[in-house]
Amino acid sequence: MPNYCCTTLFAEHVTLKPVSSAYETELFRELTAEVARYLVFQPTGDIDDTRDFIARSRMEMDQGTAIKMVILDRVSGAFLGYINLRSVDTREPGVGIWIAKPHQGKGVGKQALRAMMTWADQNLSYDFLRYPVAAENILSRRLAESLGGVVAGTGTFRNTNGEELEEVEYRIPKGPVDRL
Ligand SMILES: CC(C)(COP(=O)(O)OP(=O)(O)OC[C@H]1O[C@@H](n2cnc3c(N)ncnc32)[C@H](O)[C@@H]1OP(=O)(O)O)[C@@H](O)C(=O)NCCC(=O)NCCS
Repeated sequence: MPNYCCTTLFAEHVTLKPVSSAYETELFRELTAEVARYLVFQPTGDIDDTRDFIARSRMEMDQGTAIKMVILDRVSGAFLGYINLRSVDTREPGVGIWIAKPHQGKGVGKQALRAMMTWADQNLSYDFLRYPVAAENILSRRLAESLGGVVAGTGTFRNTNGEELEEVEYRIPKGPVDRL
């Protein structure tokens, strides 16, 4: 069974490393209510929830069911954000991503997602990546579309505060990222 706890990915300006307690402070501090506006998980202000999240993430990576990574500046090592691939043992893994507010809109999300897609193409057997996004999350929709994502369906989801949001699901087809 694969274990993803030691996987590190490199792109031109960013490095992706498995989530660990070394990044507890940054994961807690940078996932603000503003950044999480369109995410399922809503910050609680309790760092124990971040610790639980890290422990669960490590378990899922040990079991080979998910890969959950921090995004770091390749040169300085500064924390830039977070990206995950869930259900990697299925034909339809799902992507999630958030970038810390000061680093948004600078190409970090696109570079991290490209690195994850390249890794998926080389290491997983899948048909397409699912990229669910809140319908009004225009930046995230642009990111999905800029990497070949096409709308596959619509629906709703509920965040952890119980709010219901309209959802669009993109599918990003398998294939070399260089084609995009
Ligand atoms: C959505 C998010 C992940 C995008 O990451 P990012 O690093 O900010 O985005 P990038 O700079 O890589 O840009 C990706 C695409 O979005 C578009 N974009 C980014 N910032 C933009 C801006 N300020 N204005 C217009 N378009 C913009 C660009 O079209 C770009 O594609 P291109 O390179 O083909 O032009 C990031 O903004 C974020 O974390 N948002 C909050 C959390 C969230 O909503 N996560 C997604 C859940 S599905």
